[in-house]
Amino acid sequence: MTHPTTLPAWQALTEKADPKALPSMRELFATDPDRFATFSLRLDDLLLDYSKNRIDRETRALLLDLARQAGVEAAREAMFGGEPINLTEHRSVLHVALRNRSDRPVRVGGTDVMPEIRAVLARMKTFSERVRSGAWRGATGKPIRDVVNIGIGGSDLGPAMVADALKSYQRPDLAVHFLSNVDGTHAAEILKLCAPETTLFIVASKTFTTQETLANARTARDWLVSALGEAAVEHHFVALSTNAKAVAAFGIDTANMFEFWDWVGGRYSLWSAIGLSIAVAIGFDRFEEMLGGAYAMDEHFRTAPLEANMPVLLALVGVWNANFLGAEAIAILPYDQYLHRLPAYLQQLDMESNGKSTSRDGHPVTWSTGPVLFGEPGTNGQHAFYQLIHQGSRLVPCDFLASAETHNPLGNHHLLLLSNVLAQAEALMRGKTEDEARAELTKAGLSGAELEAQLPHRLFPGNRPSNTLLYRSLDPRTLGMLLALYEHKVFVQGVIWDINSFDQWGVELGKALAKAILPELSGDTPVTPHDSSTAGLIATIRTLRTG
Ligand code: F6P
Repeated sequence: MTHPTTLPAWQALTEKADPKALPSMRELFATDPDRFATFSLRLDDLLLDYSKNRIDRETRALLLDLARQAGVEAAREAMFGGEPINLTEHRSVLHVALRNRSDRPVRVGGTDVMPEIRAVLARMKTFSERVRSGAWRGATGKPIRDVVNIGIGGSDLGPAMVADALKSYQRPDLAVHFLSNVDGTHAAEILKLCAPETTLFIVASKTFTTQETLANARTARDWLVSALGEAAVEHHFVALSTNAKAVAAFGIDTANMFEFWDWVGGRYSLWSAIGLSIAVAIGFDRFEEMLGGAYAMDEHFRTAPLEANMPVLLALVGVWNANFLGAEAIAILPYDQYLHRLPAYLQQLDMESNGKSTSRDGHPVTWSTGPVLFGEPGTNGQHAFYQLIHQGSRLVPCDFLASAETHNPLGNHHLLLLSNVLAQAEALMRGKTEDEARAELTKAGLSGAELEAQLPHRLFPGNRPSNTLLYRSLDPRTLGMLLALYEHKVFVQGVIWDINSFDQWGVELGKALAKAILPELSGDTPVTPHDSSTAGLIATIRTLRTG
């Protein structure tokens, strides 16, 4: 375990990042006509263009040295080899096994996990096909028309994002809903859309102890039982979990449970039984195509040399921007309406994985780790927060995503969309110089004091980094590739930052305090010692609820 700041490449990169010595991106493009070819990489139909970053060949070589010195290759082998790299929970990290399409065994503690993975996939296939064909019937003999996935975090965001991303593969007579929030409004609004006789609930929870999911599952169960009686439950509820005991205790027959394992992290679980709602929504064959896309990216990540490795390069560019150029955020900007939930999904993947400040050997880090991640589909974001990205005081690197072809060829919409994404990346890179702004204002008829007053507001500094991910069409295979790309990017960054990307202790404290506060809100329970703010808020809620 090596703290990254002690590595020779880190020192060299620090020197390289000296703002006085750093060429502008305009200069980099002007002096290297092959820059696009040199700083882009293609895998099947997916292209990563990282040329609009403030790096040259030497910086890239140093970043690759950093990856080697940080032990990325050995860490990659350890993950694929099933070693318990999740140090605090003593677990292997094997979401890659879930989409292993080869005959290669994957061992956890000496046991090949592939047979059980294949067995669950076979059950998912049978079940999803039965629901889709109408062979699976509700308690009164009617086919299923609405499927409600009840889960939160990794048991919600992945399937919800994928179901939307692949909406063009869904059937109009089978709606899929995602119930996550403990706010009763979420359940109420979804249940309004469903009829008990034709609704199937998929309760998705790795631990089957998550407060929000159990509360929503109980509400759904009560709703069903009050309409159709207790005996209906087995026809309308299935569970996805690692915890058979808790599933049985909740009242779901474990014959209706699809299993996964503790070496599947929640935010990496959409490839497991947690993907059942996806298989029901788009069909199992499509689900398998998505696994195939992820497998293609896994194989690329596992075998390609670091200098030709897409997840590694994406990660290294992120490290350069964050640790050497001072970026604290990253914007995920899909110019693809179907990917409107991608930023929310990647927030969990990236921020829950790399939002850590303790090194693997237990010391506080003295370097930046995971960035703040946010985003919106283009072009909507352009009319909201892009102002800050172009002219604000903070550096916000962007990932643009776009498809060459659309599932919805309406007029020239798609070309309008593509022209916008290309223009934004170009504008961020080039900026607008004083001479250019002056010429524009003059052309617009301004002169003298008014021109001079306007001028500083019309300048764009440029040099704002972005990556562009371009693909032919958003199909299941491409989506699988994209998601695996981001998973491995997060992995590589976690290794370089010397943190454990696979635990999430930071979410525990709030959960524990909420349990203590819950009874105090009801009015007749004494309030335990809190700070004056929390105590004051509890008292106010009590008054407002009763007054
Ligand atoms: O919020 C923490 C977390 O443990 C996530 O990591 C996880 O995806 C989510 O809660 C849901 O957990 P579960 O699937 O066990 O209900």
